[in-house]
Amino acid sequence: MTGTPGFNCNEWKHLTSLAEQRKNQHIRDLFAGDSDRVSELTFTAGPLTIDFSRQRVDSQVIESLFKLASQVGLAQARDAMFAGEHINSTEDRAVLHTALRLPRDASLTVDGQDVVAEVHEILDRMSLLADQVRSGNWLGVTGLPIKNVVNIGIGGSDLGPVMAYEALRAYSARDLSFYFVSNVDGTDIAEVLRQIDPLETLFIVASKTFSTIETMMNAATAREALLSAVTNQSMDAVAKHFVAVSTHKQRVEEFGINSENMFGFWDWVGGRYSMDSSIGLSTMIAIGPENFAQLLAGFHTLDEHFRNAPDSQNVPLLMGLIGIWNRSFLDIETVAVLPYDQYLKRFPAYLQQLIMESNGKSVTHSGELVPTQTSPVYWGEPGTNGQHSFYQMLHQGTSLVACDVLVPAQSQNKLGAHHDVLVSNALAQATVLAFGRTADQVKAANTPEALINHKVMPGNRPTTLITLDEVTPFALGSLIALYEHMVFVQGIVWGINSFDQWGVELGKEMATAIAPFLTNDAEVSDFDAATQSAISWYRQKR
Ligand code: F6P
Repeated sequence: MTGTPGFNCNEWKHLTSLAEQRKNQHIRDLFAGDSDRVSELTFTAGPLTIDFSRQRVDSQVIESLFKLASQVGLAQARDAMFAGEHINSTEDRAVLHTALRLPRDASLTVDGQDVVAEVHEILDRMSLLADQVRSGNWLGVTGLPIKNVVNIGIGGSDLGPVMAYEALRAYSARDLSFYFVSNVDGTDIAEVLRQIDPLETLFIVASKTFSTIETMMNAATAREALLSAVTNQSMDAVAKHFVAVSTHKQRVEEFGINSENMFGFWDWVGGRYSMDSSIGLSTMIAIGPENFAQLLAGFHTLDEHFRNAPDSQNVPLLMGLIGIWNRSFLDIETVAVLPYDQYLKRFPAYLQQLIMESNGKSVTHSGELVPTQTSPVYWGEPGTNGQHSFYQMLHQGTSLVACDVLVPAQSQNKLGAHHDVLVSNALAQATVLAFGRTADQVKAANTPEALINHKVMPGNRPTTLITLDEVTPFALGSLIALYEHMVFVQGIVWGINSFDQWGVELGKEMATAIAPFLTNDAEVSDFDAATQSAISWYRQKR
C-alpha cells in the first residue's frame, strides 16, 4: 500500500516554486483578485461548513495539491484503509476505526472476522450497562445505586472520553457525576477519591493494553479505596464496582475484573482513534445509548463523505492538503485550535494527541528520513478566553500561526446576548487574523505617529472557519472524523505511518529503569551524569 511519498513526486517541486512565487502574497490580495473567493472556498461536509477562503491558497495551488494527492496514490491508500488492509506497516495491523461506526446492516469482513457483527455486539452490551447505571438499577455491593462514574485511563483512553463528556454535557445525565483520572501523579486520583463514595461509584478501567503503568496504578489505588470501604474486603465488591475496557482479557481477569464486565475492542483500533469504541463507555453512560448512536452516525457521515465526495468537494482531503501547504511549503510551525464554545474546551487537547502522536514522525514507512517538515504543533483554548491571553502573539508575534476557528450558530445555554457577543468575537478574530490592519488604516484613524507601528496588524494568518448549527452528538462525531481523515491525508503525503507511536516508548523504558534507583542506594554509574545528579537530588529530598 505504501505509495510514493509526496516529496519524491514531481508535483512537490512545482509546489515549491509556487510557494516561492507567493512569498509576498497577502490574503488581502487574494480577496481583491477574486470576488467569488468565499463561495469557491466554502464547503459542507455533513453538519459542518468549512470556509478556507482565509487560507493562503489560490486555484493554482489547490490544483497542484490535488495533483500531488493523485501522485502519492491517496485514493488507493484511503480505500486500503477502509477495506482493512494492514496499512499500519510497523505493527502489521489494519486501521479500522471507521468500522466502529458502520451501521448494523453494513458488512465488512477483515482477516476472516465479521467486524460489523462484533462491533455491534459490544455496543449492545455497552447499552445494557449504560441503561442499568442511568436508571439506577445497577447496584453496588451494599445495594446503593451508582452516583459517580470514574474513568481511569490515559492518552487515547482518557482524552477522547474527557473531551466528549465536556463537549456533550448538555446531553448528559445530570444526576450522575463523572470524573476522569489519568495522571500517575497520585494527586489526580486522591482528589477524585475525596469527592466520591466508592460504594456509589462505578470505576471504568480503560486501557487497550491493560498494562499502562499510570492506569494500572490508579486502578489499583481505586480498588484499595473500594476494598477498604467494605467490611469483608470481598472481591464481589470489585465485580460490582469495576468494569474494564480493553483488548487484553487475561490481564483484566488477573486484576480481578469479571470478564462479563469487560468490554473488548480490537488491535485495529489505535488508542487515539478509540473514543467511539468501548473506550467511549463513560460517554455512553453520560449521554445515553441513543445519543451515542448519534455520535457514531456523525462519524460515519464524515467517513462516507471522505470516501465518496469528489476531490474538489472533499473537505478532509482539502483540509489535509492545505495543512501540507502551510507546513511543508509555507513553513508554518503551529496551528491554534480556537473553539468558540465552552463545551469544546478539551477539544484542542484531544487534537494534540490525535494529530501529533499520529504525524509527529520523521521517517517514512521504509525507515528513511523525511526531508520535509511533518506535524505542526497543535494547541489552543476556547474563545474568548484565549483572546485575553495569547492572541496578542497570534496577531503581532514574529511566528506565523495558522488558526482553526470553530463556531456553533446556537448555544446550548441561551442566556440573553451571550452567544451573539461570543460569535461577534469569533468572526472579528477570523477577520483580523486574515486581513490585519495596514499602516494607512491606522493613520486614517488619527493615531499618533509614535503609535502607528504598534497598532499595525500584519494579518495574513491562514485561518479556517468551521461553523456548525450546534454542538450535538452528531456534529461532534463529524468534527472528530474530519480531523481524523485530515491526519490520514497528511500522513500519506508525508509518507509516514500515522498509526504507530514508537516515540513514546523510550521514555517509558527509562522511567522503568530509573524507578528502582529512586528508592534504594544502589550504584547509579550506569546512568549519564545528569541523570545521576537528578537521582541523588531525589534520594536526598524525598
Ligand atoms: O503512550 C502512548 C499510548 O500508547 C497511547 O497511544 C495510548 O492512547 C495510551 O498510551 C494509553 O494506552 P492504553 O490504552 O493501552 O493504556
